[in-house]
Amino acid sequence: MKSPPLIAPSLLSADFARLGQEVTNIMAAGADWLHIDIMDGRFVPNISYGADIVKAVRPLTKAVFDAHLMITPYEPYLEVFAKAGCNNITIHAEAGYHTQRALRHIRDLGCRAGLALNPATPETALAYVLDDIDIILVMTVNPGFGGQSFLPSQLEKIRRIKKLVGKRPIAIEVDGGITVDTIGAAAAAGAGVFVAGSAIYHGNRAETYAPRIAALRQAAYAGLSPGSSKSV
Ligand code: DX5
Ligand code: ZN
Repeated sequence: MKSPPLIAPSLLSADFARLGQEVTNIMAAGADWLHIDIMDGRFVPNISYGADIVKAVRPLTKAVFDAHLMITPYEPYLEVFAKAGCNNITIHAEAGYHTQRALRHIRDLGCRAGLALNPATPETALAYVLDDIDIILVMTVNPGFGGQSFLPSQLEKIRRIKKLVGKRPIAIEVDGGITVDTIGAAAAAGAGVFVAGSAIYHGNRAETYAPRIAALRQAAYAGLSPGSSKSV
């Protein structure tokens, strides 16, 4: 049986002045994972927040904290983010030299290990680390900012990754420009976890979150249904 699509709202689009409430509200609205974007102003041209913020909101929910590290170097911070309460830690294939060692380290810290690929990075970057990976994060925008447009060129990469993964228990996650118009194509290509920032949080009104999450989930299911020819 296929696993149900998981929706991972990105905290980057939350109202930072009410961060704790935004975490509580999004989980109450039916989010599956909470995606936490860590940006350093070096690997990506933007700075977001660090481990102390993660630690501060950790007691508010039992949700899976899905950390996306857009930082270089990442080695000094793996333990810091594990201790802050992240369940998943995803590093970028482009952000360091010793990817395999870092993935192993993340697992040794008791977390699920993720590897993210920028749009220009081919899926071959995964070939020799597949057994060290729990999550593959396919960037469908160039990382750094919320609210960018989905890159349809990445659909072929997702299809190839799906084949490469085979029966391994690896989650294929997509991040960037996910909306009700793009999620179906990403699901059809083989993604199972969907990060969405602005599509869920825009306007920052709690009452809009549950219907938006439900609509995304429904559109992902629609993309999976036989005969769907969802394109973007
Ligand atoms: C982009 C981040 C994303 C971002 C997605 O660098 O990795 O997680 O929050 O935002 P949307 O869904 O608005 O493209
Ligand atoms: Zn992200």
